[in-house]
Amino acid sequence: MKPKVGLIGLGLMGLPMGRNLLKAGFPLTVWNRTRSKAEQLEKEGAKVADSPRKVAAASDVTFTIVSDPPALEQVLWGEPGALAGLRKGSVLIDSSTVSPVLARRVAQACAERGADFLDAPVTGGTWGAEKGELVFMVGGKKEVLDRVGPVLEAVGKRFFLLGPNGAGQTVKLAMNLILALEVEALAEGLELVTRAGVAGERLIEVLQSSMGRAPVLDVKAPVILKRDFTPSFPLRLMLKDVGLAMDLAKENGIELPAGTAAHRAYSAVKAAAKTDVDYAAIANYWQKT
Ligand SMILES: NC(=O)c1ccc[n+]([C@@H]2O[C@H](COP(=O)([O-])OP(=O)(O)OC[C@H]3O[C@@H](n4cnc5c(N)ncnc54)[C@H](OP(=O)(O)O)[C@@H]3O)[C@@H](O)[C@H]2O)c1
Repeated sequence: MKPKVGLIGLGLMGLPMGRNLLKAGFPLTVWNRTRSKAEQLEKEGAKVADSPRKVAAASDVTFTIVSDPPALEQVLWGEPGALAGLRKGSVLIDSSTVSPVLARRVAQACAERGADFLDAPVTGGTWGAEKGELVFMVGGKKEVLDRVGPVLEAVGKRFFLLGPNGAGQTVKLAMNLILALEVEALAEGLELVTRAGVAGERLIEVLQSSMGRAPVLDVKAPVILKRDFTPSFPLRLMLKDVGLAMDLAKENGIELPAGTAAHRAYSAVKAAAKTDVDYAAIANYWQKT
């Protein structure tokens, strides 16, 4: 019999993950702070619970995928939070991007309740979530990852076990720091050539034939040239991730000079943005200058 799955958080990522779990035939119970998003999945066969606690109580495997550390603390420890409902022998998988310290605190809280925990943040974006092709960066025990393998395969295509709890989040923060810097560098290059009188498209043509090419730049260059910043990965979340990476650097006693500069630049764009925008909107940095 298929394990019962729970899913807490139905944002840009959680909603398509839920659809793929249903398509794969897992009995699914969901909760979202804004209930209307959960009702979309109810039409497709999910049960909607009244609280995160009831999701956990109904599930053998419970996913959380919410915005940031305060949101995760709220759905786990808030009243009525998921930790209080966790079944003995069940597995909690957190796919939000949060700090490694918080991941280890959650692992401890799960262990106290006789449950297992994987920190399992993802990469692949909304496209990967829709296709069921997310890449998971996992911290935890191999035996637990093996146990939930069939469930993860409904939403992902690659699973990297990176070490004990916290290791998944550590690698995820480094990954997103790199992506933030790549897109920031692209925006700088485009602004530079444009101001100097050469069309941005010409830089992109050359970039495509150079070592500077990168898949993220293939995706974000057209977005910047069209200036269509409809959020796919919202800038507010990228700023959160760069901030978490900077905190991790501090905890480990190192300075990240480019990360510090990128954090300042993304913060300035977020402060000036009037709507939710994609992180490619870092290209708006020079709008007022
Ligand atoms: N989008 C991407 O491309 C992408 C890629 C990789 C990883 N991620 C990571 O995945 C996570 C989710 O991202 P997303 O794009 O799905 O974000 P999103 O669309 O902004 O959704 C955020 C989710 O968190 C919930 N939430 C926020 N604050 C909450 C609180 N205080 N209590 C309870 N629920 C709360 C939201 O509920 P409401 O619906 O009520 O607002 C929503 O379900 C983030 O950690 C992000 O960094 C995102």
